[in-house]
Amino acid sequence: MNKYNIALLAGDGTGKEVTDEAVKVLKAIGNKYSTEFDFQEELIGGCAYDEYKTPLPEKTIRTAKQADAVLLGAVGDWKYDKLPPEVRPERALLGIRKELNLFANLRPAIVYPELTSISPLKEAIVSDTDVMIVRELTGDVYFGTPKGIEIRNNEKYAYNNMCYYESEIRRIAQTAFNVARQRNKKVCSVDKANVLDVSRLWREIVTEVSQEYKDVELTYMYVDNAAMQLIRNPKQFDVILTGNIFGDILSDEASMLTGSLGLLPSASLSDGNLALYEPIHGSAPDLKGKNTVNPIAAILSAGMMLKYSFKLDYAYDDIVNAVRKTLRDGFRTADIMQNGMKLTGTSQIGDIISQNII
Ligand code: IPM
Ligand code: MG
Repeated sequence: MNKYNIALLAGDGTGKEVTDEAVKVLKAIGNKYSTEFDFQEELIGGCAYDEYKTPLPEKTIRTAKQADAVLLGAVGDWKYDKLPPEVRPERALLGIRKELNLFANLRPAIVYPELTSISPLKEAIVSDTDVMIVRELTGDVYFGTPKGIEIRNNEKYAYNNMCYYESEIRRIAQTAFNVARQRNKKVCSVDKANVLDVSRLWREIVTEVSQEYKDVELTYMYVDNAAMQLIRNPKQFDVILTGNIFGDILSDEASMLTGSLGLLPSASLSDGNLALYEPIHGSAPDLKGKNTVNPIAAILSAGMMLKYSFKLDYAYDDIVNAVRKTLRDGFRTADIMQNGMKLTGTSQIGDIISQNII
Protein backbone atom coordinates (compact mmCIF):
# COMPACT_ATOMS: atom_id res chain seq x y z
CA MET A 1 0.00 0.00 0.00
CA ASN A 2 1.30 3.43 -0.92
CA LYS A 3 1.70 5.73 2.02
CA TYR A 4 2.17 9.49 2.01
CA ASN A 5 3.06 11.69 4.96
CA ILE A 6 1.36 15.07 4.88
CA ALA A 7 2.19 17.97 7.18
CA LEU A 8 -1.16 19.54 8.01
CA LEU A 9 -0.92 23.21 8.91
CA ALA A 10 -4.49 24.41 9.41
CA GLY A 11 -3.48 27.84 10.72
CA ASP A 12 -5.98 30.47 11.84
CA GLY A 13 -9.57 31.55 11.28
CA THR A 14 -11.42 29.19 8.99
CA GLY A 15 -8.20 27.36 8.07
CA LYS A 16 -9.14 24.32 10.11
CA GLU A 17 -12.68 24.15 8.75
CA VAL A 18 -11.48 24.04 5.15
CA THR A 19 -8.55 21.66 5.70
CA ASP A 20 -10.84 19.27 7.63
CA GLU A 21 -12.88 18.91 4.45
CA ALA A 22 -9.78 18.47 2.30
CA VAL A 23 -8.66 15.68 4.65
CA LYS A 24 -12.07 14.02 4.31
CA VAL A 25 -11.77 14.04 0.54
CA LEU A 26 -8.18 12.70 0.66
CA LYS A 27 -9.43 9.84 2.84
CA ALA A 28 -12.06 9.03 0.21
CA ILE A 29 -9.30 8.97 -2.42
CA GLY A 30 -7.23 6.76 -0.09
CA ASN A 31 -10.09 4.28 0.17
CA LYS A 32 -10.63 4.20 -3.56
CA TYR A 33 -7.00 3.52 -4.44
CA SER A 34 -5.82 1.67 -1.30
CA THR A 35 -3.49 4.53 -0.51
CA GLU A 36 -2.78 5.80 2.97
CA PHE A 37 -2.41 9.45 3.88
CA ASP A 38 -0.85 10.12 7.26
CA PHE A 39 -1.35 13.60 8.67
CA GLN A 40 0.95 15.34 11.10
CA GLU A 41 -0.58 18.52 12.46
CA GLU A 42 1.51 21.55 13.40
CA LEU A 43 0.77 25.15 14.30
CA ILE A 44 1.40 28.09 11.99
CA GLY A 45 0.42 31.75 12.11
CA GLY A 46 -1.38 33.42 15.02
CA CYS A 47 -2.18 30.16 16.81
CA ALA A 48 1.55 29.33 16.79
CA TYR A 49 2.33 32.78 18.17
CA ASP A 50 -0.13 32.24 21.03
CA GLU A 51 1.60 29.00 21.94
CA TYR A 52 5.28 29.69 21.18
CA LYS A 53 5.57 33.48 20.67
CA THR A 54 6.57 32.91 17.06
CA PRO A 55 4.24 32.41 14.05
CA LEU A 56 6.60 29.87 12.49
CA PRO A 57 8.03 27.48 15.11
CA GLU A 58 11.10 25.36 14.30
CA LYS A 59 9.05 22.22 14.83
CA THR A 60 6.61 23.28 12.11
CA ILE A 61 9.47 23.86 9.67
CA ARG A 62 11.04 20.51 10.55
CA THR A 63 7.78 18.59 10.07
CA ALA A 64 7.12 20.40 6.79
CA LYS A 65 10.60 19.56 5.49
CA GLN A 66 10.28 15.88 6.42
CA ALA A 67 6.80 15.43 4.96
CA ASP A 68 6.02 14.28 1.44
CA ALA A 69 3.91 17.43 1.05
CA VAL A 70 2.39 20.23 3.10
CA LEU A 71 -1.30 21.13 3.19
CA LEU A 72 -1.98 24.59 4.60
CA GLY A 73 -5.25 26.30 5.52
CA ALA A 74 -4.75 30.02 6.06
CA VAL A 75 -3.11 32.38 8.55
CA GLY A 76 -4.10 35.66 10.15
CA ASP A 77 -6.68 37.18 12.44
CA TRP A 78 -7.50 40.76 13.35
CA LYS A 79 -6.47 40.08 16.90
CA TYR A 80 -2.84 39.95 15.75
CA ASP A 81 -2.99 43.22 13.80
CA LYS A 82 -1.15 45.14 16.49
CA LEU A 83 1.77 42.71 16.75
CA PRO A 84 5.19 43.85 15.53
CA PRO A 85 5.71 42.93 11.83
CA GLU A 86 8.31 40.21 12.59
CA VAL A 87 5.78 38.08 14.45
CA ARG A 88 2.63 38.75 12.47
CA PRO A 89 0.92 35.60 11.12
CA GLU A 90 1.58 36.55 7.46
CA ARG A 91 5.29 36.43 8.26
CA ALA A 92 4.93 32.68 8.79
CA LEU A 93 3.67 32.24 5.26
CA LEU A 94 6.56 34.19 3.80
CA GLY A 95 8.93 32.35 6.14
CA ILE A 96 7.82 28.85 5.21
CA ARG A 97 7.94 29.69 1.49
CA LYS A 98 11.53 30.85 1.91
CA GLU A 99 12.58 28.01 4.26
CA LEU A 100 11.30 25.35 1.88
CA ASN A 101 12.53 27.26 -1.20
CA LEU A 102 9.04 27.22 -2.72
CA PHE A 103 9.82 29.58 -5.55
CA ALA A 104 7.19 28.42 -8.02
CA ASN A 105 3.60 29.25 -7.22
CA LEU A 106 0.98 27.79 -9.56
CA ARG A 107 -2.41 29.48 -9.34
CA PRO A 108 -4.94 28.11 -11.80
CA ALA A 109 -8.14 30.07 -12.45
CA ILE A 110 -10.57 27.73 -14.15
CA VAL A 111 -14.17 28.69 -14.84
CA TYR A 112 -16.15 25.46 -14.61
CA PRO A 113 -19.32 25.40 -16.76
CA GLU A 114 -21.38 24.67 -13.60
CA LEU A 115 -20.46 28.08 -12.20
CA THR A 116 -20.14 30.34 -15.22
CA SER A 117 -23.15 32.33 -14.09
CA ILE A 118 -21.74 33.32 -10.69
CA SER A 119 -18.91 35.38 -12.15
CA PRO A 120 -19.55 39.10 -11.90
CA LEU A 121 -18.44 39.28 -15.55
CA LYS A 122 -20.59 38.37 -18.55
CA GLU A 123 -20.80 34.64 -19.26
CA ALA A 124 -19.57 35.07 -22.82
CA ILE A 125 -16.37 36.64 -21.53
CA VAL A 126 -15.52 34.14 -18.79
CA SER A 127 -16.96 30.83 -20.04
CA ASP A 128 -14.25 28.18 -20.58
CA THR A 129 -11.52 30.40 -19.14
CA ASP A 130 -8.55 28.34 -18.00
CA VAL A 131 -5.56 30.47 -17.01
CA MET A 132 -2.54 29.29 -15.05
CA ILE A 133 -0.68 32.03 -13.22
CA VAL A 134 2.92 31.05 -12.52
CA ARG A 135 4.06 33.44 -9.82
CA GLU A 136 7.62 33.68 -8.51
CA LEU A 137 7.30 33.32 -4.74
CA THR A 138 10.59 33.76 -2.89
CA GLY A 139 12.05 36.98 -4.30
CA ASP A 140 11.08 40.45 -5.51
CA VAL A 141 10.07 43.37 -3.32
CA TYR A 142 8.65 40.88 -0.79
CA PHE A 143 12.11 39.81 0.34
CA GLY A 144 14.49 42.46 -1.03
CA THR A 145 16.83 44.41 1.18
CA PRO A 146 17.56 47.11 2.23
CA LYS A 147 14.12 47.88 3.59
CA GLY A 148 12.75 49.83 6.48
CA ILE A 149 11.05 52.86 7.90
CA GLU A 150 13.21 55.65 9.30
CA ILE A 151 13.53 59.39 9.65
CA ARG A 152 15.15 61.21 6.73
CA ASN A 153 15.18 64.96 6.23
CA ASN A 154 13.02 65.33 9.32
CA GLU A 155 10.20 63.21 8.06
CA LYS A 156 9.30 59.54 8.02
CA TYR A 157 10.68 57.66 5.04
CA ALA A 158 9.96 54.04 4.02
CA TYR A 159 11.56 51.86 1.37
CA ASN A 160 11.61 48.33 -0.01
CA ASN A 161 13.81 46.87 -2.70
CA MET A 162 12.51 45.18 -5.84
CA CYS A 163 15.29 42.85 -6.99
CA TYR A 164 15.91 39.58 -8.80
CA TYR A 165 18.97 37.50 -9.58
CA GLU A 166 19.00 36.12 -13.11
CA SER A 167 19.08 32.59 -11.67
CA GLU A 168 15.79 33.29 -9.87
CA ILE A 169 14.20 34.52 -13.10
CA ARG A 170 15.59 31.61 -15.10
CA ARG A 171 14.18 28.88 -12.86
CA ILE A 172 10.67 30.35 -12.67
CA ALA A 173 10.68 30.91 -16.43
CA GLN A 174 11.63 27.26 -16.93
CA THR A 175 8.74 26.25 -14.66
CA ALA A 176 6.31 28.35 -16.71
CA PHE A 177 7.50 26.92 -20.03
CA ASN A 178 7.31 23.38 -18.68
CA VAL A 179 3.78 24.00 -17.40
CA ALA A 180 2.81 25.49 -20.77
CA ARG A 181 4.06 22.35 -22.53
CA GLN A 182 1.44 20.37 -20.62
CA ARG A 183 -1.25 22.87 -21.66
CA ASN A 184 -1.77 25.06 -24.73
CA LYS A 185 1.92 25.98 -25.18
CA LYS A 186 1.54 29.72 -24.66
CA VAL A 187 3.39 31.84 -22.10
CA CYS A 188 2.66 35.52 -21.52
CA SER A 189 5.39 37.09 -19.40
CA VAL A 190 4.05 40.03 -17.39
CA ASP A 191 6.35 42.84 -16.21
CA LYS A 192 6.77 46.59 -16.13
CA ALA A 193 9.77 46.80 -18.45
CA ASN A 194 8.83 50.29 -19.63
CA VAL A 195 9.74 51.60 -16.18
CA LEU A 196 11.62 49.09 -14.02
CA ASP A 197 15.20 47.83 -14.40
CA VAL A 198 14.17 44.63 -12.66
CA SER A 199 11.62 44.04 -15.39
CA ARG A 200 14.17 44.67 -18.13
CA LEU A 201 16.36 41.91 -16.73
CA TRP A 202 13.25 39.76 -16.31
CA ARG A 203 12.44 40.14 -20.02
CA GLU A 204 16.01 39.47 -21.12
CA ILE A 205 16.24 36.22 -19.15
CA VAL A 206 12.76 35.00 -20.09
CA THR A 207 13.63 35.57 -23.76
CA GLU A 208 16.86 33.63 -23.31
CA VAL A 209 15.08 30.71 -21.63
CA SER A 210 12.45 30.67 -24.39
CA GLN A 211 15.17 29.62 -26.87
CA GLU A 212 15.06 26.17 -25.28
CA TYR A 213 11.28 26.04 -25.67
CA LYS A 214 10.76 26.82 -29.34
CA ASP A 215 7.50 24.84 -29.29
CA VAL A 216 6.01 27.32 -26.79
CA GLU A 217 4.79 30.72 -27.96
CA LEU A 218 6.13 33.59 -25.82
CA THR A 219 4.50 37.02 -25.57
CA TYR A 220 5.11 39.93 -23.20
CA MET A 221 2.69 42.27 -21.54
CA TYR A 222 3.02 45.21 -19.16
CA VAL A 223 1.32 44.52 -15.85
CA ASP A 224 -1.17 47.39 -16.09
CA ASN A 225 -2.29 46.16 -19.50
CA ALA A 226 -2.43 42.57 -18.19
CA ALA A 227 -4.76 43.67 -15.38
CA MET A 228 -7.06 45.14 -18.01
CA GLN A 229 -6.78 42.24 -20.48
CA LEU A 230 -7.65 39.68 -17.77
CA ILE A 231 -11.06 41.31 -17.50
CA ARG A 232 -11.50 42.24 -21.17
CA ASN A 233 -10.61 38.87 -22.65
CA PRO A 234 -9.30 36.26 -20.18
CA LYS A 235 -9.45 33.48 -22.78
CA GLN A 236 -6.44 34.94 -24.61
CA PHE A 237 -4.21 33.63 -21.78
CA ASP A 238 -2.82 30.17 -21.23
CA VAL A 239 0.12 30.57 -18.81
CA ILE A 240 0.91 33.94 -17.23
CA LEU A 241 4.48 34.13 -15.96
CA THR A 242 5.22 36.91 -13.51
CA GLY A 243 7.07 38.04 -10.39
CA ASN A 244 6.00 37.89 -6.78
CA ILE A 245 4.12 41.16 -6.31
CA PHE A 246 2.50 41.31 -9.75
CA GLY A 247 1.45 37.66 -9.34
CA ASP A 248 -0.06 38.36 -5.94
CA ILE A 249 -2.27 41.07 -7.39
CA LEU A 250 -3.17 39.41 -10.69
CA SER A 251 -4.11 36.13 -9.01
CA ASP A 252 -6.69 37.81 -6.77
CA GLU A 253 -8.03 39.54 -9.85
CA ALA A 254 -8.17 36.25 -11.76
CA SER A 255 -10.14 34.63 -8.95
CA MET A 256 -13.03 36.94 -9.72
CA LEU A 257 -13.30 35.47 -13.21
CA THR A 258 -14.50 32.35 -11.40
CA GLY A 259 -16.76 34.33 -9.09
CA SER A 260 -15.32 33.48 -5.68
CA LEU A 261 -11.97 33.46 -3.93
CA GLY A 262 -13.29 30.33 -2.22
CA LEU A 263 -12.74 28.29 -5.37
CA LEU A 264 -9.07 28.80 -6.17
CA PRO A 265 -6.35 26.35 -5.11
CA SER A 266 -2.61 26.78 -5.38
CA ALA A 267 0.59 24.79 -5.40
CA SER A 268 3.96 26.13 -4.27
CA LEU A 269 6.82 24.05 -5.59
CA SER A 270 10.58 23.90 -5.04
CA ASP A 271 13.24 22.35 -7.28
CA GLY A 272 13.19 19.20 -5.16
CA ASN A 273 10.36 17.28 -3.52
CA LEU A 274 9.23 19.95 -1.08
CA ALA A 275 5.85 21.40 -1.93
CA LEU A 276 3.03 23.21 -0.21
CA TYR A 277 -0.62 23.38 -1.21
CA GLU A 278 -3.05 26.01 -0.01
CA PRO A 279 -6.23 27.81 -1.02
CA ILE A 280 -5.45 31.31 -2.25
CA HIS A 281 -8.05 32.83 0.06
CA GLY A 282 -7.23 34.11 3.52
CA SER A 283 -8.38 33.02 6.96
CA ALA A 284 -11.75 34.87 6.94
CA PRO A 285 -11.86 35.15 10.76
CA ASP A 286 -15.37 36.66 10.62
CA LEU A 287 -16.67 33.33 9.28
CA LYS A 288 -14.82 31.14 11.77
CA GLY A 289 -16.90 28.42 13.43
CA LYS A 290 -20.03 29.22 11.40
CA ASN A 291 -19.82 26.23 9.06
CA THR A 292 -20.40 28.55 6.09
CA VAL A 293 -16.97 28.96 4.48
CA ASN A 294 -16.34 27.36 1.10
CA PRO A 295 -13.89 24.41 1.36
CA ILE A 296 -13.62 23.86 -2.40
CA ALA A 297 -10.36 25.82 -2.77
CA ALA A 298 -8.79 23.69 -0.03
CA ILE A 299 -10.19 20.49 -1.54
CA LEU A 300 -8.83 21.40 -4.98
CA SER A 301 -5.49 22.24 -3.33
CA ALA A 302 -5.40 18.69 -1.99
CA GLY A 303 -6.14 17.64 -5.57
CA MET A 304 -3.15 19.60 -6.83
CA MET A 305 -1.04 17.80 -4.21
CA LEU A 306 -2.08 14.45 -5.65
CA LYS A 307 -1.16 15.62 -9.13
CA TYR A 308 2.06 17.56 -8.57
CA SER A 309 3.62 15.80 -5.57
CA PHE A 310 2.35 12.24 -5.90
CA LYS A 311 1.83 12.13 -9.68
CA LEU A 312 -1.67 10.69 -9.20
CA ASP A 313 -3.24 12.63 -12.06
CA TYR A 314 -6.26 10.35 -12.12
CA ALA A 315 -6.96 11.11 -8.43
CA TYR A 316 -6.76 14.82 -9.19
CA ASP A 317 -9.32 14.26 -11.96
CA ASP A 318 -11.52 12.36 -9.49
CA ILE A 319 -11.53 15.35 -7.14
CA VAL A 320 -12.33 17.87 -9.87
CA ASN A 321 -15.13 15.61 -11.14
CA ALA A 322 -16.53 15.15 -7.63
CA VAL A 323 -16.56 18.92 -7.07
CA ARG A 324 -18.23 19.52 -10.42
CA LYS A 325 -20.87 16.85 -9.82
CA THR A 326 -21.64 18.36 -6.42
CA LEU A 327 -22.13 21.76 -8.08
CA ARG A 328 -24.20 20.25 -10.89
CA ASP A 329 -26.44 18.66 -8.27
CA GLY A 330 -27.14 22.15 -6.97
CA PHE A 331 -25.17 22.23 -3.72
CA ARG A 332 -23.71 25.65 -2.92
CA THR A 333 -21.92 27.31 -0.05
CA ALA A 334 -23.04 30.85 0.78
CA ASP A 335 -20.35 32.61 -1.29
CA ILE A 336 -21.58 30.96 -4.51
CA MET A 337 -25.28 30.62 -3.62
CA GLN A 338 -27.76 31.19 -6.43
CA ASN A 339 -31.55 31.13 -6.75
CA GLY A 340 -33.00 27.65 -6.79
CA MET A 341 -29.83 26.03 -5.43
CA LYS A 342 -29.36 24.23 -2.11
CA LEU A 343 -27.51 26.28 0.49
CA THR A 344 -25.02 23.84 2.02
CA GLY A 345 -22.71 24.09 5.04
CA THR A 346 -18.94 23.62 4.96
CA SER A 347 -18.85 20.12 6.42
CA GLN A 348 -21.96 18.99 4.52
CA ILE A 349 -20.54 19.98 1.15
CA GLY A 350 -17.28 18.26 2.13
CA ASP A 351 -19.28 15.07 2.86
CA ILE A 352 -21.07 15.28 -0.47
CA ILE A 353 -17.86 15.82 -2.42
CA SER A 354 -16.26 12.84 -0.62
CA GLN A 355 -19.26 10.67 -1.45
CA ASN A 356 -18.87 11.68 -5.07
CA ILE A 357 -15.40 10.14 -5.15
CA ILE A 358 -16.48 6.80 -6.55
C1 IPM B 1 -1.11 35.31 -0.97
C2 IPM B 1 -1.27 36.24 0.19
C3 IPM B 1 0.08 36.45 0.85
C4 IPM B 1 1.00 37.07 -0.18
C5 IPM B 1 0.07 37.30 2.14
C6 IPM B 1 -0.93 36.76 3.15
C7 IPM B 1 1.42 37.40 2.74
O1 IPM B 1 -1.85 37.42 -0.23
O2 IPM B 1 -0.69 34.15 -0.74
O3 IPM B 1 -1.41 35.71 -2.08
O4 IPM B 1 1.04 38.30 -0.34
O5 IPM B 1 1.71 36.32 -0.85
MG1 MG C 1 -2.45 37.43 -2.26
